[in-house]
Amino acid sequence: MAERSSLSATGLSGARLSGAGVAHALRLEGVSRHFGALVALDAVDLEVTAGERRAVLGSNGAGKTTLFNAITGDFPPTAGRIQFFGEDVTSLPVHERIRRGLRRTYQHSLLFRGLSVLDNLYLAVRGVSRGRYSFRRPRRDDAALRSARELVHLVHLDHVAGTVVANLAYGQQRQLEIGMALAGAPRMVLFDEPAAGLSARERRELIEILRSLPRHIGYIIIEHDLDVALRVVDRVTMMHNGRIFKEGTPGEIENDPQVQQIYLGGGHG
Ligand SMILES: Nc1ncnc2c1ncn2[C@@H]1O[C@H](COP(=O)(O)OP(=O)(O)O)[C@@H](O)[C@H]1O
Ligand SMILES: [Mg+2]
Repeated sequence: MAERSSLSATGLSGARLSGAGVAHALRLEGVSRHFGALVALDAVDLEVTAGERRAVLGSNGAGKTTLFNAITGDFPPTAGRIQFFGEDVTSLPVHERIRRGLRRTYQHSLLFRGLSVLDNLYLAVRGVSRGRYSFRRPRRDDAALRSARELVHLVHLDHVAGTVVANLAYGQQRQLEIGMALAGAPRMVLFDEPAAGLSARERRELIEILRSLPRHIGYIIIEHDLDVALRVVDRVTMMHNGRIFKEGTPGEIENDPQVQQIYLGGGHG
């Protein structure tokens, strides 16, 4: 398909091989983040392979968003080391990690509300984002416009490509945010609770979108909804009190008594 070929034609050489031939996209060693006396992340070790789809689950306050902030550099760790495709990025600023192919979505929206879906994605492809640059009407760029249209298609928004963001349904805005994060040849995308506030129908759409993303783009998804999380990932990491306490396949996690206690016993908010 057109969108696949263009998104995979990024010229990225892929992951370096390490250890027993496993290509690590992301490797955290002893990563901690303190906020004053509070230990939000406590010596976390984590390895994610290239192209892998991973869920991070855990109750409210477990440290999931703090983990994302450490990986992206929004709040760098207070201890430990982070490697991205073999390179130590622990102390690199956010934009340098973006340049290396790391993307994220936030729990709050970063869209241009007065512009159309297609214009938002066009600007994202051109490297313009709210808060990073002042907005200027860009020069016409056919390649960027083609990429933007492919992104529109990838997040199932063809029928509202010309609609301004302010007039989109809530779920469509969340889909657009995913499209924004996919602009510019990412190697790994971090999704922070993309299903929050979505209707059942919008959740099904989200699952479809995530499952049909190009396979070379790895992602980590924080998600409260087990039905969403377990259907869109290869592996699951469980967090509690700033620590990882379990990792496994969706099947292993779904049948785990400890997990069932957290998710069915009212321990998650
Ligand atoms: N910027 C911050 N300043 C102070 N405390 C924070 C900050 N960010 C997160 N925390 C605290 O760190 C802990 C983990 O939070 P967070 O990573 O947001 O959890 P989760 O995303 O799993 O719900 C919580 O106790 C939270 O209050
Ligand atoms: Mg969070």
